[in-house]
Amino acid sequence: MQKTTAGLLPQGPDEKVAVLWAVLLAAWEAAWGQLRYSVPEELPKGSFVGDVAKDLGLQLPELRARGVRIVSEGQTQYFFLHGKTGHLVTAERIDREQLCRQVEKCVLPCELIVEGEMKFYEIEVEIKDINDNAPSFREAEIDLRMSETTAPGSRFPLPDAHDPDWGRNSVQSYELSGDEHFSLAVQAGPGGDQRPELVLAKALDREEAAFHELLLRAMDGGDPARTGTARIRVTVVDTNDNAPVFSQAEYTVRVPEDVPVGSVLVTVTATDADEGLNGHVKYSIQQISEKASHIFQLDSEKGEITLLQSLDFEKGDFYKLEVEAHDGGGLFDTAKVMVTVTDVNDNAPELTVSSSITEISEDTPLGTVVALLHVQDRDSGANGKVHCSLDGGVPFRLQSSHGSYYRVLTARELDREQVSEYNVTVRAADGGSPALQSSAVLALRVLDVNDNAPVFAEERYSARVVENNAAGALVLTVRATDADWGQNARVRYRLAEGRVRGAAGARGGSERCRQPRPLRPGWIAGSLDRWVG
Ligand SMILES: *[C@@H]1O[C@H](CO)[C@@H](O)[C@H](O)[C@H]1NC(C)=O
Repeated sequence: MQKTTAGLLPQGPDEKVAVLWAVLLAAWEAAWGQLRYSVPEELPKGSFVGDVAKDLGLQLPELRARGVRIVSEGQTQYFFLHGKTGHLVTAERIDREQLCRQVEKCVLPCELIVEGEMKFYEIEVEIKDINDNAPSFREAEIDLRMSETTAPGSRFPLPDAHDPDWGRNSVQSYELSGDEHFSLAVQAGPGGDQRPELVLAKALDREEAAFHELLLRAMDGGDPARTGTARIRVTVVDTNDNAPVFSQAEYTVRVPEDVPVGSVLVTVTATDADEGLNGHVKYSIQQISEKASHIFQLDSEKGEITLLQSLDFEKGDFYKLEVEAHDGGGLFDTAKVMVTVTDVNDNAPELTVSSSITEISEDTPLGTVVALLHVQDRDSGANGKVHCSLDGGVPFRLQSSHGSYYRVLTARELDREQVSEYNVTVRAADGGSPALQSSAVLALRVLDVNDNAPVFAEERYSARVVENNAAGALVLTVRATDADWGQNARVRYRLAEGRVRGAAGARGGSERCRQPRPLRPGWIAGSLDRWVG
């Protein structure tokens, strides 16, 4: 009575102990009537479990008449008795993994109660596992970061896969695919569980491959087997294992000396295979002469070498620099930079008068040196080759002596009375294209020599004089000129003894005069008196 009631009444928490007792007592009495069945999980509703009527020797009409029913523990009724056939069938789909998580034997007990006879029978239905679950990883993507200096042989634990199925239907093995750098090791845990580990099989090199994509596969032992996968992405963390490398060990540039200030003469470049700071290249000048340090500037980021000051071929035609490229991790490379400055015809010849005379006597012999000149051109080659010349029409010539010295000599006789002053233009031109030139003027005054006699304006003078003229009356004026200069041109007049109509000439007299001027009439009159008297 008690038992039946217990089996029929809904169970509250307080009654659990009582029910347990009742079941234990019943086990004594009903041991003879215990039935065991086993069915795979996941059968559709109404699937056959066992022929209870036959196994208990009950007649089918009896079953119906005596009020036979099935009572399961708990609230869910998993089975019921099919009245017409006396078969125990599933009342719903049964998921073994939901009922018995990690239990090897999953048994569902229930009782068959024959109300009319006040009897009950225990029935145990074992739910057998089928491979209805695939192994799975908690996360489908696994991200790992490894330094590229990680030693081969290093191990990294991987998450394990879970498969709620039991036994062989649960996870049995792991597999790794992806690339040769990695292999898989599976350790046995204390409870016999499998712990996959990633093993670095081959040294990493971020510069070769920064990422490695792997696939971890977990397999169960069902038939057919099911698998679960997780993608593993290994990011290789850079270490500064690469030094910057210059694109050239030597950079050679030729620049004309007139290249403008600020121009980029050459760009040096170095590359570093590392990433981030380890690959960030900065440039600096390692070796440079004091002079060149004021001329060239190196951009530390761009590697551009620019001109700070104008170049001058004449002051420096070659510069050598040593540049360095260093990364953020202290590795570096060096390269040489050779700058050859080429000449541009930017210098005019310089013409200097080393010594000269400013006055020259007109009777100076031919070939007399009047000036010594020095020419110089700071350019090189044709740009610095100087040719000198004199402007035409002067009685002088140039004579080259000792390379850069020239002499100016008289080439013809001088005549002060024709040209009293010369401006001799000396020109110097270089061989550049276009040529640059300069000039110097030598001013020369020709000094007089008394090489000209006075000359009367007329060869013969005649005059008529009235007799008995007053003494001192003007008879005539004579004029003589002298082409010379100064004292040499000063003319004095004197009457020489002459004959007047055959008579003896008058006594002579003289008078000085600077310029030809009229004779004093009185003087000539006196003479005439005497001639007459
Ligand atoms: C020479 O040059 C000077 C100064 O330029 C000038 O005064 C003079 O007239 C020139 N003489 C001749 C002969 O050209």
